[in-house]
Amino acid sequence: MKRLAVYPGSFDPMTNGHVDLVRRSLQVFDQVIAAVAYNPHKDSAWFTPDERVAMIRETFAAEKRVLADKFSGLLVDYAVGRGASVIIRGLRAVADFEYEFQMTMMNRHLRPQVETIFMMTGETHFYTSSRLVKEVASLGGNVAGLVPDAVLPRLLERARRHRP
Ligand code: PNS
Repeated sequence: MKRLAVYPGSFDPMTNGHVDLVRRSLQVFDQVIAAVAYNPHKDSAWFTPDERVAMIRETFAAEKRVLADKFSGLLVDYAVGRGASVIIRGLRAVADFEYEFQMTMMNRHLRPQVETIFMMTGETHFYTSSRLVKEVASLGGNVAGLVPDAVLPRLLERARRHRP
């Protein structure tokens, strides 16, 4: 049986920290779905769900075991609908723990059969987050190397619109 995992996130946009996590996941799972979560009623994202999916697809164009998709609604329902019983989340610093712990427990309450597995991000990406990357880009800072090639030009273009 294929070992399938869902790697959910806002991915607004995907960073090299996310890429690192996907690559680590592929060592454990046969197939990983990077699933872009969006809220159709309230989304302050820089990129549309389709743009985010397109950047993930482009980044992993050569890796057939990575699928990109988008979903709204409950993550656990999405995972079960895709036939996945595992959710992967990345952990960076201790600060991530509280938020991740709450989400995991709520997801377990909703669907006890869905397990959440945590992986540690590579140390080069400990400080990388989509939020910080957007903030730095909007203030004219250098974000090269922090995001995949498929993301960088789109991020810089979008940052011009969000310049304070
Ligand atoms: O990359 P992020 O923003 O930290 O990812 C958060 C995400 C998308 C995993 C979380 O917000 C989520 O699961 N959203 C889907 C809606 C849902 O299931 N909410 C209840 C979670 S306990």
